[in-house]
This record gives sequence, structure tokens and C-alpha cells, in this order.
Amino acid sequence: MAGLKDRYGPWAVVAGASEGTGLAIARHLASEGIHCVLVARRAGPLEALAADLRAEFGIETVVAPVDLSLDEACEQVATAVGAREIGLYVSNAGADPTGAHFLDAPIDDWVGQIQRGVITTMRSCHRYGTAMRARGRGGLLLIGSGGCYGGGAYMSVYSGLKAFGLNFAEGLWAELSPHGVDVLFMALSTTDTPALRKLLAAKGVPLVEGLADPADVAAHAFARLPHGPITNWGQADDEPGMSPVSAAARRQRVLAIGESTRRIFGS
Ligand SMILES: NC(=O)c1ccc[n+]([C@@H]2O[C@H](COP(=O)([O-])OP(=O)(O)OC[C@H]3O[C@@H](n4cnc5c(N)ncnc54)[C@H](OP(=O)(O)O)[C@@H]3O)[C@@H](O)[C@H]2O)c1
Repeated sequence: MAGLKDRYGPWAVVAGASEGTGLAIARHLASEGIHCVLVARRAGPLEALAADLRAEFGIETVVAPVDLSLDEACEQVATAVGAREIGLYVSNAGADPTGAHFLDAPIDDWVGQIQRGVITTMRSCHRYGTAMRARGRGGLLLIGSGGCYGGGAYMSVYSGLKAFGLNFAEGLWAELSPHGVDVLFMALSTTDTPALRKLLAAKGVPLVEGLADPADVAAHAFARLPHGPITNWGQADDEPGMSPVSAAARRQRVLAIGESTRRIFGS
């Protein structure tokens, strides 16, 4: 089987790369010789990571300090990317930093989360996916959450935008895998990231046990990327776990929908 670099190189964009799972994903890619465009709001941590990755793995880096919740985010990242060939787009930034009920946080906080998690992700997948399909190879990796499978208190917007990611990835997988482009939505459970630690500390809640290690999450993402559209952290492909149905069962459902839509729209 081709290595990650052949499948998803020469460059990857990691959106939300400065810490946690995004940083672990960038490190994993760099260790495989893939050059990285590192995106987050804070330039300092991105510059430090870029220097580490260049020194340790000899790859090239581009730092793009961009707020993904702004209308112009996708264009700003594209400007930083320039003419570089992007073989992988990773949508990682997506946690809810508010930890609030819907009515107890300003509406603009929620709109920003939708812009970051839905609109910017969609625009980016359209931009980079178009070039990947033309090339006949590439990957789109969307980091999600078990919250995608249903709503709950403190999760009204978060679970909704993760449900968008789940359904969007299933559709993209059906449309793009015949063209050699891998698509994966990875539903995480609690993971030991600075964002989670910060939220728990702000709420005065002790660190929960059994958190996933971001490096393990990154390794799992790349083991499963060729086997989309979904993987649930901690569950085998045929185990339901957080979801009412397993990833394998959802895959069968996506394929069945493809059969019926083909009858209407053609191949
Ligand atoms: N940690 C968990 O327990 C857990 C559980 C389930 C799912 N997940 C999912 O895993 C992913 C990563 O979660 P996380 O805990 O590491 O927190 P996160 O806040 O989603 O990700 C942190 C990274 O995203 C960047 N970021 C956040 N908002 C941004 C924005 N508006 N524009 C640009 N960059 C932004 C941060 O850097 P800057 O602050 O510099 O912008 C940082 O690099 C998310 O999609 C989340 O939903 C996490």
C-alpha cells in the first residue's frame, strides 16, 4: 500500500494545528514527510510548532494565523497556501469553548462556531476537494465528536454542527471515493487537549479519567482515512458504541442511498 506521502502529499492543510489533536496530526504528517500549512488564530504557537517540525523532520511549513470563524477565512488560508499542491485537508478546530446553554451565551458565539465548523469547512472541502478530484487522489479528514449522533443540554449548537459534519462527510465519501479521494469523519470522545483542560478548569471540574491521547487519535485517523466515511474513537468498525449503529452499518446505508439516487440522477 502507498505511504501517506504518496497518498496525501506533498502538502497538507491542518486547520486548528497549534495544540491538541491538530498539533498531533501535524506531527504525524511531518513524520511521514508531508509538508504542512498550519492554521490557527495564534501565530506564536504556530511558529513554534513550525520550527519544531522543520528541525525534527526536515519538512517545509507555512504558518497561517487565520480566524476560521470569519467569512474570509477560506480565502485567507488559500492566500497562504498559494500554488502549493494540497493533498490533504484536515478540519480539526471545532470544540465549543463556551460550555453554556444556548440562551446563556451571546448569539454571535454560536454563529462563529457555525461559520468555523460548517461554512469554512464546506468552502475548504469544495476548494481543495475540486483539485483532489481532478488529480484522482487526496484526502479530507473531518474531526468530529460523538455529539454528532444526537442533541443534549449544553450541546444544542455543537451537536448540530457535528451532525452536519457527519452527514456531509458521508455524502462526500460517496461522491469522491470513486475518484480516489478518501473522506473520513472521525467521531472523538473526551481527548486530553489544552482546550478541554481549559474548559474543565474554567468550570471547576476535575480532569476526567480515561481521556484519549492526541497522538493515538492522530495515528488512528490515518489508519482509518482510507476506510471512510466514519470512524468512532474506541469502537471497532462493526461496533455501535456512541452511535445507535456501527460505522459499518452506516457505510452500508450510504451505499444503499447511492443506489437509489443513481436511479434518479444517474452515476
Ligand atoms: N477534546 C475533546 O475532549 C474532544 C471531544 C470530542 C471531540 N473533539 C473534537 O476534536 C477537535 C479538537 O478539539 P480540541 O479539544 O483540541 O479543541 P479546539 O478548540 O477544537 O481545537 C484547538 C485548535 O483549534 C484552533 N482554533 C480554535 N478555534 C479557532 C478559530 N476560530 N480559528 C482558527 N483556529 C481555531 C486552536 O488554536 P487557536 O486558539 O490559536 O486558534 C487550536 O489549534 C474539535 O473538532 C472537537 O470538536 C474534542
